[in-house]
Amino acid sequence: MATVIYPGSFDPVTKGHLDLITRASKLFEHVNVCILNNSAKKCPLFSIDERVIMLKDAVKNLPNVSVETYDGLLIEYVKKCNSNIIVRGLREMTDFEIELQMAQVNKEVSGNIETLFLAADPKYSNVSSSVVREFAKFGVPVGGFVPDNVLIKLREKMTMM
Ligand code: PNS
Repeated sequence: MATVIYPGSFDPVTKGHLDLITRASKLFEHVNVCILNNSAKKCPLFSIDERVIMLKDAVKNLPNVSVETYDGLLIEYVKKCNSNIIVRGLREMTDFEIELQMAQVNKEVSGNIETLFLAADPKYSNVSSSVVREFAKFGVPVGGFVPDNVLIKLREKMTMM
């Protein structure tokens, strides 16, 4: 049993993320969900503070899960937490290519940080935060993709845009 870091942008957290967090919480002593910046994603929909609130609410029934943020390199954060395990989900082959590269680079640079992959539940393999953001902007219902608390925040956000 160990503390593991489940990093991501979570803009916003989806049911796919939540499924992974729940499954990881049964495998590991503690799951630290960390919201980090993905430099490839330039225009976030939700601020970091909004994402923290949504994530904390979504995991409130999982006692061994915490939510934090970090502005920097993932491997620095993992070390700061005295952990050496990153958990990431894999939905499809395109994820695999990106994730493999990230895992290998993080291992190479850190020396000891391993990335463990959990296969996404097939019912969430097409769910991503970017799909949610795009559909929500065009008024397509996304209730199947996100937890209820996120759906409420998405509706509020859309009326403000
Ligand atoms: O949910 P995402 O956008 O797929 O998460 C990607 C994330 C945030 C985990 C990744 O971009 C990341 O680790 N960012 C922190 C900066 C960092 O360590 N970059 C080097 C990764 S090779």
